[in-house]
Amino acid sequence: MKEAELRQLLHDMTLEEKIGQLVQLPGYFQNEGAVTGPAGDMGLTQDDLRLAGSYLSIIGAEKIRKLQTEFMVRHPHHIPLLFMADIINGYRTVFPIPLAQGCTFDPELVKEGASIAAREAAAAGIHVTFSPMADLVRDARWGRVMESTGEDPYLNGQMAAAMVRGYQGDSLQEKGHIAACLKHFAGYGAPEGGRDYNNVELSPRTLREDYLPAYQAAVDAGCEVVMTSFNTLDRIPSAANEWLLKEVLRKEMGFSGMVISDWNALQELLAHGIAADQKEAAFIALRAGVDMDMTSPIYTRNLKQLVEEGKVPEHWIDESTWRVLTLKNKLGLFERPFKDADEEDEKALLLSDAHRQAARDCAEKSFVLLKNKEHMLPLQGEEAAFIGPYVDHQSLNGAWSIFADDQDTVTVKTALSRHPKTKNVLTAPGCPINDPDQPVMGFQQPVSPDSLDAEAALREAVSLAKEAKKVVLCLGEHRECTGEAASRGDITLPQCQLRLLDEVVKVNQNIIVVLFGGRPLDIRPLKEKAKTILMAWLPGTEGGNAVVRTLLGESNPSGKLSMCFPYCVGQLPIHYNHLNTGRPYHGDCHAGRFGSKYQDIPNEPLYPFGYGLSYTAFDYSPIRLSADSMTKQGSVTATVTVTNTGDQPGTETVQMYLRDLAASVARPVRMLKGFQKVTLNPGESREVSFTVTEDMLRFYDRSMQYVSEPGDFDVFIGPDSRTENTARFTLV
Ligand code: GLC
Repeated sequence: MKEAELRQLLHDMTLEEKIGQLVQLPGYFQNEGAVTGPAGDMGLTQDDLRLAGSYLSIIGAEKIRKLQTEFMVRHPHHIPLLFMADIINGYRTVFPIPLAQGCTFDPELVKEGASIAAREAAAAGIHVTFSPMADLVRDARWGRVMESTGEDPYLNGQMAAAMVRGYQGDSLQEKGHIAACLKHFAGYGAPEGGRDYNNVELSPRTLREDYLPAYQAAVDAGCEVVMTSFNTLDRIPSAANEWLLKEVLRKEMGFSGMVISDWNALQELLAHGIAADQKEAAFIALRAGVDMDMTSPIYTRNLKQLVEEGKVPEHWIDESTWRVLTLKNKLGLFERPFKDADEEDEKALLLSDAHRQAARDCAEKSFVLLKNKEHMLPLQGEEAAFIGPYVDHQSLNGAWSIFADDQDTVTVKTALSRHPKTKNVLTAPGCPINDPDQPVMGFQQPVSPDSLDAEAALREAVSLAKEAKKVVLCLGEHRECTGEAASRGDITLPQCQLRLLDEVVKVNQNIIVVLFGGRPLDIRPLKEKAKTILMAWLPGTEGGNAVVRTLLGESNPSGKLSMCFPYCVGQLPIHYNHLNTGRPYHGDCHAGRFGSKYQDIPNEPLYPFGYGLSYTAFDYSPIRLSADSMTKQGSVTATVTVTNTGDQPGTETVQMYLRDLAASVARPVRMLKGFQKVTLNPGESREVSFTVTEDMLRFYDRSMQYVSEPGDFDVFIGPDSRTENTARFTLV
């Protein structure tokens, strides 16, 4: 529709119709769709349903075409619905969780995964996905770390932009593209205590230095929608925070699209104590700049009266309605209200071989090899017994894979049985996945306890381990232990799994652990007792095949941690790009005193950001600088030579970090500013160069100006964030 026609439509709409466009109804109003939040009676009338602007979580070409048809016939101006859903890491073909995708350090790979998800979701009738989630995370107690791409601003920005481009393509109207919704704005990943929905305390400088860059990258990539976060920031909930939504998001960051609240967040302004009643909540949220109310009755019940009482100027309603209509128009819905909803395409695309292959490839590249002593891996064939609750567990999808079917997932056991090299491998569950006395409430329903005779299972596992040359222990946290509202105070493995480890290691020292889960865990027992640890995260539909191919060496692991593994929960929150403090400490925690340290645990994580091994080995030459100083208009090129010193081909993610040694505000000890992946054959060397430019040296100074300051900088280039391969240059 031409803009003039759209303006005319807005002009012709009644106040009720315009308010209707600002309302998103939950799918369960049509007895459809996953419930992704506290379901309640919104007290809405059939008339409210008649004028709604959008539905959440309704999927399926046939359903959506039917609903859209019936809805548009009834609507006074026949305005099409917007169908939105959480396509977080795939629709029916499920990819690794975003935290694992971050470990690929491969934006192009992540973009391809997003474009596949978009093609499948578009065929199923979806118009908008609530992704990318670009929240920076530093606290593994928070269950939603699984949805983030990690602890680094630069990596998260690369990944968020890649997802936006994957979902939206070059034109939303083109087939197979859907609009992206950046979330959760802002700072949702830093809740106090790692407890979901809790308060967030960030200084304006930390917000801008660490938390906004990834959101900015998604906005710059053109994401069409932004979702407000549940948390307070400076004691103001985001859905009520006009400084955040208007000054920062729209004026500073340049976002011009539609803002939607999170689930029922407008109603929650009352619980926050920000609004005394629903009417006040409606006023505050609209004033702040929330265009669409997700699944609460606040706008529907109150905006008309507020306008009629003169408390809300109608142009506020017009501006928000305009952004909703504009999004629908960008998607071409006025001309093609079904867009790409097509049952034949669904049959052809969903879980297609090509999509499964892409999901498997992404999973393989997301695995992180944390330890591999005595070359336990790769396996040669059938020398290992496979033991553990994850050997035949089909919940390899992340918690947000709500439109997928676990039955489509290839388990490790199935993959072993199908592979010619491992079809006779012996397996045993060994123990339940969760401790029976620690029931887990899942996203939709309680996790049913394993019907396993635990003692018999343990005995069977031990006897199997005794006879095998090696043991692959498939352990990990249940997928329902991460995701929304899944914070945990204890991030160790379930006791039943640790007991299995202890009993097996008594009879067999050659332990290889394949670890599954959605968060970094306290895995000190694994590091102590296993010779090899492969982090597989929640790898998705093709997880079993990806694991077996990797264990057999058909895929050489190349993942690098997008979020560090803490020594224990006591270190949280922890991140590599920390400040130095006035008393930096790197020694034995039991030795020194007056340093920034603990008496009982080290400062360093168990495995740092950017860390990951390979079946081969890589050597780094010292850094060569093109010059030892640069002007603000100039640059310095830092080069290393990377050599594959092992006996098989491998891929290394070469990482470049910077440190500003002295500035008007304290600066992090390391900041990731670039990475490059190189694939090398045994003995092959490659020069890898990074060009440092002045914009990489900028920060928010004392007056919050984004500037660089003359002085010395260290550049680090190496395999992870702890590299000491460094060189110094001066900005003059
Ligand atoms: C949830 C989540 C958000 C999701 C939305 C819709 O509460 O916080 O990430 O997109 O509701 O399901």
